Amino acid sequence: MIQILPVTGPKEPYKTYPEGEFMRRKLAAGNWKMNGLLASLTEIKTLASLPQTDCEVLICPPVTLIHAMAEICQDTAVLIGAQDCHAAECGAHTGDISAQMLHEAGAKYVILGHSERRGDHGESDELIRQKTLAAWSADLTAIVCVGESEQQRLEGTTLDIIGAQLAASIPDGATAENLVVAYEPIWAIGTGRVPTLGDIAQVHDFMRKTLSNRFGDIAANVRLLYGGSMNPGNVAEISGVSNVDGGLVGGASLKAQDFAKIISALGQ
Ligand code: 13P
Repeated sequence: MIQILPVTGPKEPYKTYPEGEFMRRKLAAGNWKMNGLLASLTEIKTLASLPQTDCEVLICPPVTLIHAMAEICQDTAVLIGAQDCHAAECGAHTGDISAQMLHEAGAKYVILGHSERRGDHGESDELIRQKTLAAWSADLTAIVCVGESEQQRLEGTTLDIIGAQLAASIPDGATAENLVVAYEPIWAIGTGRVPTLGDIAQVHDFMRKTLSNRFGDIAANVRLLYGGSMNPGNVAEISGVSNVDGGLVGGASLKAQDFAKIISALGQ
């Protein structure tokens, strides 16, 4: 009989067993995108009051809400993150926010390279790599996003695209504590369409192998999230796919009631 040791901290990405084995903790990450005003703090209060599960819970609101949410969630199981940061520490970059500022506001994680930033702001893999380094310098865990377009999937180049994005967006020095990778097929975001479970498994197994080839044993502990139209109805089956260690959830993370169901399914 394997005895589960107590989880040692909110950012511990895996549980260890006396035999030296480990199990990755699932991560339920909500990306609020450009949604949420002060009135939405009630959703966070509800989330923060839920009974704790073994699933790590993260909400990445717009930057205007980070500080208030972090205060509400202090001493609870809910962590707060950001959706982007600048690659520089400070300087003449009007309108931008540094990783250190996010950290000071209470963020523990930052999403980087989301396809909406790659698309809307022309972010390159190299820029995302630099932003990841900035995040690490500020003690933030980076959630680096990768994913293919519908055209690329139809052309059969999905794994080539994901491999190239992983190679160029993730800097040397990744660990299970400072990196999470999210696979988000662009065509599945906000569309209600999801890949088959087999297709998700193929990409996640490929990502694990690619990270292992580059980073060795530590890659076994890096959490790999699926994102794209995840909801309370499909989370259980997606969560059961090999190498899926959680979800990066958009629309279904905005209401505590929906997100609670996702957290509960991931925590099974
Ligand atoms: P949806 O869950 O709304 O499809 O968004 C996914 C996403 O982009 C999360 O980062």
